[in-house]
Amino acid sequence: MNKAVYRGRHFLIKFKNLFGTGRSVVLSPKLCSEDLQGQKQTRKMSSKPIYKPADRLLGHDKNVWVEFTALARKCKAVNLGQGFPDFAPPPIISEALGKVASSSDISVNQYTRSQGHPRLVNAIGKLYTTLLKREIDPLSEILITGGAYESLFCSFQGLIDPGDEVIIIEPFFDCYLPQIAFAGGVPKFVTLKPKENATSTKDWIWDKEELESAFTEKTRAIVINTPHNPIGKVLSMEELQFIADLCKKYNVICISDEVYEWLVYNGMQHIRIATLPGMWERTVTIGSAGKTFSVTGWKIGWSIGPKELIKNLQTVQSQVTYTLPTPTQEALAQAFEHEIPLVGTEKSYFKELSSMLEKKRDLMAKLLTDVGFKPTIPEGGYFMMADTSDIDVDFDEYDKSDDPQDYKFVRWLTKEKGIAAIPPSAFYSAQNKHYGAKYIRFCFIKEDSTLEAGAKKLKEWKEELESKK
Ligand SMILES: Cc1ncc(COP(=O)(O)O)c(C=O)c1O
Repeated sequence: MNKAVYRGRHFLIKFKNLFGTGRSVVLSPKLCSEDLQGQKQTRKMSSKPIYKPADRLLGHDKNVWVEFTALARKCKAVNLGQGFPDFAPPPIISEALGKVASSSDISVNQYTRSQGHPRLVNAIGKLYTTLLKREIDPLSEILITGGAYESLFCSFQGLIDPGDEVIIIEPFFDCYLPQIAFAGGVPKFVTLKPKENATSTKDWIWDKEELESAFTEKTRAIVINTPHNPIGKVLSMEELQFIADLCKKYNVICISDEVYEWLVYNGMQHIRIATLPGMWERTVTIGSAGKTFSVTGWKIGWSIGPKELIKNLQTVQSQVTYTLPTPTQEALAQAFEHEIPLVGTEKSYFKELSSMLEKKRDLMAKLLTDVGFKPTIPEGGYFMMADTSDIDVDFDEYDKSDDPQDYKFVRWLTKEKGIAAIPPSAFYSAQNKHYGAKYIRFCFIKEDSTLEAGAKKLKEWKEELESKK
């Protein structure tokens, strides 16, 4: 053990284990006495309250998922809220995990490459070489992350400096805002607004001038999400081209959240902004295994882009999780290897999933319309926004909080009617929550029996409302 001994004006430090001899090293008297005096004078208690949160967390301590998921569970409500399938994933992925778990290759139980398990980045590289219409280098142009959440986190931490402006199109997936704030970025909001009597998410549009005026010399990035959560809008070529032109004109990075890339309906095409001319160089494309293979609990995501951008995300990830679980990455790689030759054919799971969801979407729209909601029909994703304006229930007596109306409505719906949903004002900035407050977000990636159980409860409620008229 090293020992420091104070003798008169000298510190004698014995490096026993270093020299083995107990030889002493004498430190300079000046340094010793100053240090000692300094310690005597300044060794006070920290004045910071022990439980004080870091300043960067202020205002970000509420999370809509935490409250409403717990409420749904507590009330044993039919969960049409949080976005997860309540049915089994395709056998290809669960069987792959089973095989990996009992594999004789014991290395699958140990740490794998930090930036992504080699077999997985190779498979994803192969798939996106086709999807992005360019050769993707799996080692330098892909990062595997803890869900798309961590891809977003690494993008903001790796690319945003304090004071940089980041344009967010609202409503937006709620974690964008705190994640940008944690990096010191300044969010700038542009709102998608429905045209009067909007019935499809095509009718939710931004004002072009408002969008362009959000770009300034401080703008570092724009975040886009297509297909969109919570609206279900699928950005058209014209809309993407408009954003691409602004990104190039103002020299801005595009962070493109495409986790619902396979879930598009009515024969629509998902267009990847990175494929537009001049956009690969400035785009990070984000995907999610949870959404792709109906395994949200696996929490594997990926970021793809030019190596000059991705290396910064890799730096962040290498200091956060360093590496992700090997068995699930290995199983996901095997599932992709199976799926890649099937993409675009009727046998593809991605095709099967979107065909199945299109039917569920239509069923949910009918059920909601029957009870008096006005749903906006999504072109993609697995959520549906329903306008509640025609439903005559007064929540202010029931819920005295200052929360927006949709929070009150969803709490009431969950507790009193046993149907869980999500309040969409959570997806708006503080100043624009009123845009979301007259809607409720429902999720339709559920078993038909769950949708029918929800329908039964909605029907009972409708009868109750009618009997009071
Ligand atoms: C738009 C969007 N982005 C990112 C995520 C996060 O995905 P993951 O579960 O892979 O972290 C979600 C999850 O719901 C989402 O809806």
